[in-house]
This record gives sequence, C-alpha cells and structure tokens, in this order.
Amino acid sequence: MNDALIVLDDGHTPRGVVKTIPFLCRARLQPVSGFTVAQGEDARMLVLDLSLSVESNVSFIRKLFRALPDKPKIVFASKSDRQEIVQACAIGGATVLGRADPKSVINLSLRKIFRDLGDPFYQDHPNTTAAAARRVDTLFADMTQAALAEEPLPRSGITSCARNVIDAIQSEGVDSWLNAVHKHHSHTYCHSMMVSGYAAAFGEALGLDDETINILVHAGLLHDIGKVRIPLAILDKPGELETEEYELVKRHPEFGREILSTQANMDERIIEATLSHHELLDGSGYPQGLKGGQISQLVRIITICDIFAALTEERSYKEHYSRRVAYAILLEMGSKLDRELLKKFRPVAFRSEFGELRRAAKDANAPKLAASA
Ligand SMILES: [Fe+2]
Ligand SMILES: [Fe+2]
Repeated sequence: MNDALIVLDDGHTPRGVVKTIPFLCRARLQPVSGFTVAQGEDARMLVLDLSLSVESNVSFIRKLFRALPDKPKIVFASKSDRQEIVQACAIGGATVLGRADPKSVINLSLRKIFRDLGDPFYQDHPNTTAAAARRVDTLFADMTQAALAEEPLPRSGITSCARNVIDAIQSEGVDSWLNAVHKHHSHTYCHSMMVSGYAAAFGEALGLDDETINILVHAGLLHDIGKVRIPLAILDKPGELETEEYELVKRHPEFGREILSTQANMDERIIEATLSHHELLDGSGYPQGLKGGQISQLVRIITICDIFAALTEERSYKEHYSRRVAYAILLEMGSKLDRELLKKFRPVAFRSEFGELRRAAKDANAPKLAASA
C-alpha cells in the first residue's frame, strides 16, 4: 500500500511544495484521467494537486470524497488565487494547504495524518524503546526537511536521539529495538534506525568506549542522509533499477558528505562513515574504491551493520533474509569485509532470531540489496 496517492492534472508534475511529498513518504503520482477508486483505496492518504478553477476537477473531487469518505485527504490550492481557495474550502472534508506553504507545514500535516491512522511501529514495546523510536521518527522527518531545504540539521535532536538509542539498546536490548522499528512505513527511516541499533549493540560487544559508541550511533542515524536527494520512487522501486537510476542511488554517500560537511562542528568520523560506508576492503566498493588500510575500523563496523540491516529488512517489494542467512551472506563476501570484526558481530547478529530461514543464501538478489543499503 502506498502512503499517499497524489492526483495531478493530466500532463502535470507536482507543483510547489507538493514536490517534497515523495521524499517524505511512499507516494505514487496519478494523472486525474486514469484515476480509479481502487487506486484510492490502496493508499493511506489522498493528495489532490489539481487546478480548482477547472469545473470538472471540482466535480471529480466531490465524487471521490463521496466514494472514499473515510480516507484522509489533503487538497492543495494556490492561496493567492481566491477562486481556488473558495473552491477548496467549499469542498470540505479535507485538509487544505497552499502550494507555497513552508515545507514544515506539509511535514506536520503528514505526520499528524499518519499518527491519527495509528502508525503501529512503536506500540506494544518497552517504554524506553518506544520513546526512543518515536523521537528518532520525528528526528528523521525534521532532518529530511532540513536537508532538502539546505538548512542546518537539528543537531541537539540528533545528539539526544543517539543517546536515546544507546539507552534503549543497553536497557532493553537490540531485539526490542529491532522489533519496534522494523515495520516503520518509511524504508529509509527503518533502515537507518536498524543500522544505528546494530551499531550500538556491536560497539558494546566490541567493548568500545562510550564516546566511540556514540559516534557509531550518530553514523548509523546519518549514514544514508544523502538519500533525501533521491526520489522514493527510485529508492523503493520494486524490481530492477534502470542504469541511470542505479548510478543516482550510488551517489548518496557523496550527497551525504555534501550535506554533513556544511554543518558546523560535525565530527569528521561521522562524515567519513557517511561517505565510505559502501567501500569494501578489496577495492570493489564505491564511491572512491578505497582498499584495506584506507578504510577505518569505524567505517568497517558501520558497513557490516549496514549490509546486515539491508539484508534482514522486511519489505513487501524486496527479498529479505533471516538473520542466519544474512550472516552467511556476509561470510560469503570473503575479503570484502573485515573477517575479525565479522566474527565478533556474530553474537550481535544471533542475539535472537525473529525470522525463520526464508531464502537460500545464494539468492542472486543479495549482492544488489547489499550494494544500495
Ligand atoms: Fe548507503
Ligand atoms: Fe544504509
């Protein structure tokens, strides 16, 4: 199910701030002439970005609202156009937003709708874990907005969330954390939460000092921040990516470095992990093709957590693996990963199992999942 179905005038792309929605949730674009009620039923929310001065659009919206009365809806209007505003308010039953509204208004509106829909990802989990997951969820939405707007990232929020993740892992365990976050509707949020959780648990298992664990968790939260510049339609695309799409996805470490480098006092180790988490010891990684000693231990730790999280994430449109099979796949990567670290990751990987053996270890899709994590 899509988070949002954005209905557009035929031949148009999203206008104004509507453009940011596909970066904030899993959204599908639909020209008005091809719309069916079944498509609307298959979305958690409807977004109408139509010219309201066109009479047929207004009657379309009225019919749609009658067909799907309980579906949350946002109608976009140009607030400088009196006729559009009058029409939008007259339709009723929807949140009316302006195409020139600040991005934060869209962010808050989406968040409220998903919260009202009862996002289940943090319910029924221990207190510290649930509170941390809620805070990190809010942090990711804020960071996405800030990164897209090229504004400063919410640094104190990042610091306190890193602390919350560490507290949750240390008091309630990595499994509680993974169970709380692994069904989050946003793939990138879910993935980064999992990587930061594994990083906290792995740092602890390695006996690293508190400051290094803190940096690892920061790196887990931020390593894929560059993906904010890649539309979700590409990140969440079922099946094969086109060559150009894959090349764009592979630029996310550099986008991440660009975003983090502009932040005052960002720790160099976090920037390094963000840029280099897809580098592999045999030089076959990207973006720089670094080898062996050019890759720090901190980056090697994040890379293991990153690939392991990507392989075990449950997504309806992607293959995923039990922890046992995912660990076997990491072992099969041989000289690409740090063998000593990988051995020490074993107890973190197997602290418990919440998945049965689902796939054979030699599935052809595994390397691709690992390569875009
Ligand atoms: Fe990545
Ligand atoms: Fe990643």
